[in-house]
Order: sequence, then C-alpha cells, then structure tokens
Amino acid sequence: MNHVFRKGTDDSKPTLVLFHGTGGNENDLLPLADLLSPGSSVLGVRGNVLENGMPRFFRRLSEGVFDEADLIFRTHETKQFLEKAAAQYGFDANHLVAVGYSNGANIAGSLLFHYKDVFQSAVLLHPMVPLRRRTLPSLDEVSVFIGAGTNDPICPPADTRELEGLLQGAGAKVTMHWGNQGHRLSMEEAEAARDWLSER
Ligand code: MLT
Repeated sequence: MNHVFRKGTDDSKPTLVLFHGTGGNENDLLPLADLLSPGSSVLGVRGNVLENGMPRFFRRLSEGVFDEADLIFRTHETKQFLEKAAAQYGFDANHLVAVGYSNGANIAGSLLFHYKDVFQSAVLLHPMVPLRRRTLPSLDEVSVFIGAGTNDPICPPADTRELEGLLQGAGAKVTMHWGNQGHRLSMEEAEAARDWLSER
C-alpha cells in the first residue's frame, strides 16, 4: 500500500497508524499525529481503492452503504500490510495505535472487528459501524476513543452508540467524546484524544 513512515524520537511511545478520510492520502493526518503523540513513529497509509479518483480504504455501494465483501478483503489486506511494514521498518507490531478519520476510522474499526491484537488503542474520529451480524474477537486489552458529533449527518449518533456498544460488548474500554461540529474533525476533539492517549 502507498504509505509514509516517519521514525519517532521516543521508542517508548507507540507507533501511530494513520488512516485518512475519503479523498485523502497518507500525509493528511501527519499534523494530527504530531499533536496526538509527539515523538511517536508514524505510519501513514493510503487506501488502495479509488472512487472517482478519491482514495478510500474499501468500496461502497452508496453513501454509508458499504461493499461488505470488499471491506473484508481490504481489512485482511491492510493487516498483512501492517505486518510487512513492521518487519521492514522495525517498529513493534504489538504497540500500535490506530488513528482514523471517517472512512479511515471505518477500516480501523473493521480491523478491530476482525483481529483481537491488531491495535493496543484506537482513536476513531467520526466512525460508523463497519459491519453488522458479526462475532467480535475479545477486545479486553484494547482501549478506544470515539470522537463523534451530535449533529454528524454522515455518522448519526445512534450509529455511533451502536458501535460503542458493540466494542464494549467485546470487552474494549471505550471513551466517548461528543462535539457539535458535524462530520468535521475539530481541534477540541483532537485535544481530547491527545489527553486520553497520554493516559494510556
Ligand atoms: C465511508 O464511506 O466510510 C463513510 O461514509 C465515511 C466517508 O464518507 O468516507
């Protein structure tokens, strides 16, 4: 997968894996990574799917309606990429924090739905329920921060609460942050995520 890797200055910190929103790329969330965890190594990933020229992490049939078969395929593909990147760059695959926004939060969510130990923590910004009718792995060791919007037109609050419940049902420790900036990423939620991450 197209990506950028930046070696951090503090090996005690987790490596952040960045997943952009629709139309973004591997560089988009680098400034957010600097804010969330200064000194961390960072792996910015670009989604392999193109929708009208816009990179995404998996196909969708329409707004909010995912191509489940493609989502599952891309989830496994991304997991394999992470393993390869860990070997190539020498970061600890057991000390990863996912940071995803919108479509990127949805692929990160799908990775959590498939693998118990892919991420130690995840910062999911404006996520949806990636897949339904699934048995999740045990997520007892995983902490998740969800940044949501009470007025997010793409991720309705009921959907966000459903995701919170599914993750909690699998044992994850979930922290919610509700803003009112629609689907936008706000500085307030980024700072709340930073404070949350610094307590991990
Ligand atoms: C998705 O397709 O993953 C969600 O609708 C969010 C987005 O617009 O990318």
